[in-house]
Amino acid sequence: ILNKASAVSPQKLVESDLSCLADAIKGEILEHLEADEVKALSTYHFDGKGKAIRPLIVLLTARCINHHMGNEELSQHQRYVAMIAEMIHTASLIHDDVIDESDIRRGRPTLSSLCGQKKAILIGDCVLAISSLLLARIGHADVYRIISQILTDLVQGEFMQMENPAKRVTQSDRFAHYLEKSFKKTASLMARPCEAVGVLARLPPKLQETVFLFGRNLGMAFQLVDDLLDFECDSQQLGKPAMNDLRSGIATGPVLLAAESHPELYEMIGRRFNRDGDVEKAYHLVVDESDAILRARNLAESYGASALRYLHLFKDSEYRRGLEAVIDQILTRRK
Ligand code: FPP
Ligand code: MG
Ligand code: MG
Repeated sequence: ILNKASAVSPQKLVESDLSCLADAIKGEILEHLEADEVKALSTYHFDGKGKAIRPLIVLLTARCINHHMGNEELSQHQRYVAMIAEMIHTASLIHDDVIDESDIRRGRPTLSSLCGQKKAILIGDCVLAISSLLLARIGHADVYRIISQILTDLVQGEFMQMENPAKRVTQSDRFAHYLEKSFKKTASLMARPCEAVGVLARLPPKLQETVFLFGRNLGMAFQLVDDLLDFECDSQQLGKPAMNDLRSGIATGPVLLAAESHPELYEMIGRRFNRDGDVEKAYHLVVDESDAILRARNLAESYGASALRYLHLFKDSEYRRGLEAVIDQILTRRK
């Protein structure tokens, strides 16, 4: 159903806004700071080399819904939302690399490995603070509320991940917890900025909900594919260590699905794969001894299909077709 979309390059459609995004963020950071070290560290991740998938989604969604409302222009406030999404994402990754003690991201040393954990935490806070300045410039109470929820979602998603996995005893409880965590960790940062540009476009409330649900389903598909790639790709492709989730003691969708036919996995999940051989054994059961990869992929695709259904409640435009291609890219990506 999604094949026809691949002809459109979504990146090209918003190229002019996307290409200056990292520089615009850098400009804001440099303008609001004095100390050279803080400036250098705060701009480290805005080198224009990231995937910038969140700004891409926000910019295309804004264009798509503006067209629906009979307006062909993108507002500066909507551009700010795209920048804020990327800044919150980056700040959360800086903090995440401290929590996970990761040395490498996107094939480069992490900030915490360069400047230490204390400074990395402060730099994450600094990026977040400058994103709030942009939020203040938008000056819209609903947008402030919507964007603030992303931060509470991210923190609560991390806590859900830290929770003792032995606490949940039924499969449905475990899977519901996994889906809720995936929303909070990932889909929220796609859904809520889409909702915010919808508010700025003055969409009627029903369509504000539609654009949120579009982003939510797209974000869930994104995270479920991310969890699959941990099993399907090697570390060189990913730019970060593979089987990372298992090694970090985290049971994602594929493991939970494989456990239905291999209950011995539940014990490994409960002890966070911390015994010698657990990681390899779990990997083998998931990849070679069950249909979990296939089922997880089907689930990701069903989220993609839901995103498409919500998208189609908006008028057709090249931007809508661009978003169809984004859904396709998310489902077929290899890194
Ligand atoms: C990456 O996950 C991390 C996240 C999606 C969210 C991290 C959120 C926080 C640290 C909470 C608060 C931070 C702020 C600034 C509000 P991962 O470790 O599974 O993926 P990775 O392989 O990319 O490291
Ligand atoms: Mg991490
Ligand atoms: Mg993490």
